[in-house]
Amino acid sequence: MRTLHESAALDAGVAAPTGQVLKGQYSGAYRSDKGKIKGLLLQAGEAKFTVKLPKYLRPMLVRELAPGDFVQVWAYPEDDRWRAINVLPLPKCEAEMLRQQWGDLAPVPKLAQTSQKRMCIEVCTKGKCYKQGARQVHSALQEAVDRDPALSHVAIKETGCMKACKQGPNLRLPNGRMLHRVSPAEALAQLDAKR
Ligand code: FES
Repeated sequence: MRTLHESAALDAGVAAPTGQVLKGQYSGAYRSDKGKIKGLLLQAGEAKFTVKLPKYLRPMLVRELAPGDFVQVWAYPEDDRWRAINVLPLPKCEAEMLRQQWGDLAPVPKLAQTSQKRMCIEVCTKGKCYKQGARQVHSALQEAVDRDPALSHVAIKETGCMKACKQGPNLRLPNGRMLHRVSPAEALAQLDAKR
């Protein structure tokens, strides 16, 4: 019987790459420098894997996986990361065995309660900030919040000038701290802490 990766490769008319099944816990999204979701980060005890997903699987990652979920990934090595062919949940008994072996990942964030007060991240989208990429920063944040139920307590707001035009794009965190010259990836990293 053909394995899954052999089937995929043969269907595509190419030699099957040497692949294997990685088992571990989803620990977050793997993003490009521009903040686009490209795959997943997998933690297996002490080991960490960066796994690139086929495009059609990426929306599933956002919708269905929560940090701490156990998955099995059919993948093969490519440069300094892995390229996945398929991702499936790990059967409960096996997940439980690994949980006992490894201990829990960092506490799994709970979905935001609707009654929870919304945190507001403000992005200046005026004049100089706009020219320096504020629109991309705002879109990256808004897109991430729209897609991830664990961020439903976070609101992204466009604001006027914050009087730091030369250091734009500027962003203000819920605690009032301002970040200057923010890239979309840096802005998204701020969201990771709010999950
Ligand atoms: S235009 Fe953004 S701080 Fe002034």
